[in-house]
Amino acid sequence: MKIVVIGAPGTIGRAVVAALAPRHEIIEVAKSRGALTVDTSDFASVRDLFSKIGTFDAVVTAAGNAHFGPFATMTPDEFRIGLNDKLMGQINVVLAARDLISSGGSFTLTSGSLSDEPVRGGADASTVNAALDGFVRAAAIEMPRGLRINSVSPTVLAESWSVYGPFFAGCEPVPAKRVALAYVRSIEGAATGQTYRIW
Ligand SMILES: NC(=O)c1ccc[n+]([C@@H]2O[C@H](COP(=O)([O-])OP(=O)(O)OC[C@H]3O[C@@H](n4cnc5c(N)ncnc54)[C@H](OP(=O)(O)O)[C@@H]3O)[C@@H](O)[C@H]2O)c1
Repeated sequence: MKIVVIGAPGTIGRAVVAALAPRHEIIEVAKSRGALTVDTSDFASVRDLFSKIGTFDAVVTAAGNAHFGPFATMTPDEFRIGLNDKLMGQINVVLAARDLISSGGSFTLTSGSLSDEPVRGGADASTVNAALDGFVRAAAIEMPRGLRINSVSPTVLAESWSVYGPFFAGCEPVPAKRVALAYVRSIEGAATGQTYRIW
C-alpha cells in the first residue's frame, strides 16, 4: 500500500514508519521538516498536500497539539489550541482526503488516554481526545466505498516520559514500538470505528 504518514518525524510517527516501511510505500509528511509539509489546522494547506501526492491507500495522522495548563485560569484562546490543531487538524485530513483515497482505504487518527483518564492541566487534551474517538465512531458508519477509520489512543510513551511524566503520576508508560503496532492493526486489518487503547 501507499501510506501517507502525517507527523512522520515525530515520536509516534517514527515508530509507525518503522513498523510499516518493510511492507509498504511510505509518504512522510511533517509541519516544517522534509520534502512534504502541511499545516493540518489549515484546510487549504491539507487540500494542497493531497493534490501533490496523487493516489494513496491509507493515511495516518500522528500530529496535533493541545494546551496543557490549569483549568482555573484556562482562556478560550488556550482551549482552542487543541480544538484547532489536534482535533480539527485530523478531521481536516479526513475531509480533504475522503474523495481522493483509494476504495477500501483507511484513516488512522491519534487521540490519547486523557479522554478517559484525566490529569491536572489536561482539560483541553481530554476534550479533544474524546471528540476524536467520537468522530471516528460516527464517521465509520457513513464512510463510502468501503473506506475505514480508526483511532489509536496511547497513554504517555516511554520516549516522551521526560516531558509528560510529571503529569502522569502512577501511569505505566508504553514503548513507541508497541503503540505503532496498533496503527498496523488498523491499516492492515479489517476493523472500522474502533479506538485501539494502548494503556
Ligand atoms: N508522545 C506521547 O506520549 C503521546 C501520547 C498520547 C498521544 N499523543 C499524541 O500523538 C500525537 C503525536 O505525538 P508525538 O509525541 O509523536 O509528537 P511530536 O514528537 O511532537 O511530533 C509531532 C509531529 O507532528 C507534526 N505536526 C505538528 N503539528 C502539525 C500540524 N499542525 N500540521 C502538520 N504536522 C504537524 C510535527 O512536524 P515537524 O516535525 O515539522 O515539527 C511532528 O512531525 C499528538 O497529537 C499527541 O497529542 C502523544
